[in-house]
Amino acid sequence: MFKSTACNAMRQRLRACSRPAALSLLVAVAGCTPPPPPAVALTPAQRESLHPADAALAARYDRSCALCHARAGSGAPLVADAAAWAPRLARGDAALLASVTQGRGGMPPRGLCPDCSDDDLRALIHFLATGASR
Ligand code: HEC
Repeated sequence: MFKSTACNAMRQRLRACSRPAALSLLVAVAGCTPPPPPAVALTPAQRESLHPADAALAARYDRSCALCHARAGSGAPLVADAAAWAPRLARGDAALLASVTQGRGGMPPRGLCPDCSDDDLRALIHFLATGASR
């Protein structure tokens, strides 16, 4: 009788202790923050199929930015290529807008979109850098 009570108490204690222990072991094994998924490079077809959600902006994108930024080998940082955009984004939105309005390297002033407003250009820069519309 005594023995089985002691066993029960022991079992209860074990149950109380071992669950959190097992959990923390799992967390330790799995690591607290899972590593980010590896960046997957887009195929040329996937890259060309990306468009801003807004139809008017998409039309401007198609006849200007996409000519270079959706084509490998143009020398332009490609749309949704996070690694290519990270160091440029780090210079800040104002610097990037200035590059586009004035032109930079192989990019003509306003990125070949004379009728793009500054807001259009900001939206297009965001789209180029992320592949997503705001
Ligand atoms: C004729 C080709 C061409 C077109 C059209 C073009 N770009 Fe570019 N773009 C480039 C090239 C090449 C670079 C890289 C310039 C460099 O850093 O030497 C570039 C770089 C950029 C950068 C980074 C600038 C920096 O300071 O690092 C932004 C932002 C950008 N383009 C946005 C746009 C937007 C928005 C459009 C459309 C409105 C556009 N581009 C149209 C060729 C183009």
